[in-house]
Amino acid sequence: MRAVVYDRYGPPDVLRLEEVERPVPKADEVLIKIHATTVNRSDCAVRAAKPFISRFVTGLRRPRRNILGSELAGEVEGVGASVSEFRVGDHVYGVNPWNFGAHAEFICMQETAPLALKPTGMTFQQAAAVCDGAILALSCLRPAAEALTWLRPADLRKGQRILIYGASGSIGTAGVQLARYFDARVTAVCNTKNLELVRSLGADEVIDYTQEDFTKNGQTYDVIFDAVGKHSFERCKGSLKRGGAYVATDDLLNLVRAFWTSRIGDKKVLFPIPPRYTKKDVLFLKQLIEAGKYRAIIDRSFPLEQVVDATRYVETEQKTGNVVLSVSATAGPEAQKGSVQIA
Ligand SMILES: NC(=O)c1ccc[n+]([C@@H]2O[C@H](COP(=O)([O-])OP(=O)(O)OC[C@H]3O[C@@H](n4cnc5c(N)ncnc54)[C@H](OP(=O)(O)O)[C@@H]3O)[C@@H](O)[C@H]2O)c1
Repeated sequence: MRAVVYDRYGPPDVLRLEEVERPVPKADEVLIKIHATTVNRSDCAVRAAKPFISRFVTGLRRPRRNILGSELAGEVEGVGASVSEFRVGDHVYGVNPWNFGAHAEFICMQETAPLALKPTGMTFQQAAAVCDGAILALSCLRPAAEALTWLRPADLRKGQRILIYGASGSIGTAGVQLARYFDARVTAVCNTKNLELVRSLGADEVIDYTQEDFTKNGQTYDVIFDAVGKHSFERCKGSLKRGGAYVATDDLLNLVRAFWTSRIGDKKVLFPIPPRYTKKDVLFLKQLIEAGKYRAIIDRSFPLEQVVDATRYVETEQKTGNVVLSVSATAGPEAQKGSVQIA
């Protein structure tokens, strides 16, 4: 099968398309023919080995796994002897977060993995762009009682005011829609070009960060969700209500701040990592999509062969929503470069 492989850490050029052996499913595994996948920020961080400490998980001198790609949508091609949930021919979508391997024509995943039937009415491209951003946003905002991580999430409640900084990214576009689902009042902060998009996703108010600094407008929020890791607790503190929380998605120092503010002060830093990707969440997102309450945002799509270009684009940190790689001709219509396709 064709796959994008890499055998050393480095810039996007370390990625190359090669013929590799097709995987064979074990008894509890499903073999999936992948129609579409994505290039996301985790793929880029693992490939570049940033931060350095990540090498202790991914391989100290060189990558332990040679194929990146966590999100996927495709078709079940084969099942192991004990698999009962899926059948050959099922259209599926999901995420393989720690093992990666989706930048390829085939992948094997356990049937208990974060994998479910593809939401009705979605193309493979659209379905591939759902799980990573949405599950990361969900792990930050979900009710505390549902949290599986040791660091608690924001526990966003009906009527609470949330400001989402970086609302146009993969996690941000998911965050806006999920915050609306939780019945919160949403203020979305992004660049001029994305104001209409975030409004269409359900933001009650929008702030153009090129025109206005939200920390100086006198408004306060129960939750400030830094969905792009470009703000900081120190700068946001004055815009948080008493008892409010700054929710981080990046910068490991936020773990120290989370620990410290859990003991001192009335405003908290929350950094719910490591994220937990579960089948329950993939099924929850399918329900939300089929009820018309969640849409996948695709900025650009590239054929698998152009993985290096796709990766360079993701590394500009300017993508809107998600960047898709189509692996087969049935992936769905390719998004126009520079346009934003909404599922
Ligand atoms: N916690 C975890 O486990 C985990 C996992 C994966 C990724 N992450 C981190 O989560 C963060 C977001 O990931 P993502 O995939 O959602 O990012 P992304 O899609 O690459 O974010 C791109 C968006 O960020 C916005 N942006 C760029 N610079 C900005 C700035 N200075 N101020 C405001 N917005 C800015 C851009 O919007 P405009 O064009 O409107 O500026 C663009 O739409 C990253 O820092 C990533 O490293 C965390």
